[in-house]
Amino acid sequence: MNDPKTLRFLSAADVRRALPMSEAVEVMKCAFQELSENRAVVPLRTHVTMPEHQGGVLVMPAHSPDSARFSLKVISLFENNPALNLPFIQAMVMLFDATNGTPLAIMEGTSLTAIRSGAASGAATDLLAKVNSSKVAIFGAGLQARTQLEAMCAVRPIRTASVFDQDPQRAAAFARDASAELGICVTVAPTSAEALAGADVICTATTSATPVFADDEVASGSHINAIGSYKPHMREIPPLTVARAYVVVDQLDAAWAEAGDLIMPMQAGLIHSGHVRAELGELVAGTKPGRSDEQMLTFFKSVGIAIQDLAAATCALANAEKLGLGTEVKL
Ligand SMILES: NC(=O)c1ccc[n+]([C@@H]2O[C@H](COP(=O)([O-])OP(=O)(O)OC[C@H]3O[C@@H](n4cnc5c(N)ncnc54)[C@H](O)[C@@H]3O)[C@@H](O)[C@H]2O)c1
Repeated sequence: MNDPKTLRFLSAADVRRALPMSEAVEVMKCAFQELSENRAVVPLRTHVTMPEHQGGVLVMPAHSPDSARFSLKVISLFENNPALNLPFIQAMVMLFDATNGTPLAIMEGTSLTAIRSGAASGAATDLLAKVNSSKVAIFGAGLQARTQLEAMCAVRPIRTASVFDQDPQRAAAFARDASAELGICVTVAPTSAEALAGADVICTATTSATPVFADDEVASGSHINAIGSYKPHMREIPPLTVARAYVVVDQLDAAWAEAGDLIMPMQAGLIHSGHVRAELGELVAGTKPGRSDEQMLTFFKSVGIAIQDLAAATCALANAEKLGLGTEVKL
């Protein structure tokens, strides 16, 4: 019998070092193109609900024949956790060699999720937002909001950001930390209208079930990334904003199964299925157009797709091996 196999364990700190945002944005572009060209195997994720604990788990497998890797992410989302000083989202990712099924790595998935979700919005912003975008409005001051703003700074010359959260203390902590980390001016907005004034790019990363701003507060020409809602009854964007926007999604099937931001306007008769103009991967491939003029309102709706976890984990492991990060564990 052979020696016991080893796999690499990457902590949250290892994942952050192994997955810089600008590289993650490029990795996401390739992953979404692979997805839209049907070159990856990504079943719709399984939701396991635990209503007695106001929580649930998503089980997210993906296989990429291109990279010969298979991954499985298990991600939990528990509503009461922030009040208990625990993260709303916790996750682990396993990565396997798809040629023989050998496990290669286990990584802390909360940080990986935040980076890959920011990077997806970064890719969409790079493909859809005005090139001179300099002001961001951020809704939500949680973990995802941090990497959303980091990604905006990676793809556009962002100078200022304004954050609105229903919890002003969280917004204040976010503004302080993000200003220091990103070297830009981040301020707290007391209202949604003040957050949106002059914004070129808008990111929503909340747990809200209702729109977080009013349609008449959104200027034409801006670009919206909405990542918070992932169930049919959850939404962040006003239906009239959705109806007047050029809409791009991460994956059509997943969006129509999970994105309340699209499902509810469709049920209300405000939009039809053709209103979603493209998947992000089609913009990357150049098979569908993006922004056509400065006045166009563009909207990227993401629910989060397992191919993102696979691509991020594959990149993180390759970089960790180069940099000597992580801990080798004997199986
Ligand atoms: N699309 C993706 O790929 C993806 C990936 C990860 C997480 N998510 C989703 O993003 C959302 C945020 O995740 P997180 O980890 O940052 O959660 P979090 O709990 O850390 O932060 C959410 C923030 O939203 C704020 N909020 C809630 N309702 C609001 C409202 N109406 N107006 C303003 N602020 C409001 C909360 O006060 C909180 O600060 C979740 O719904 C999560 O499921 C999406």
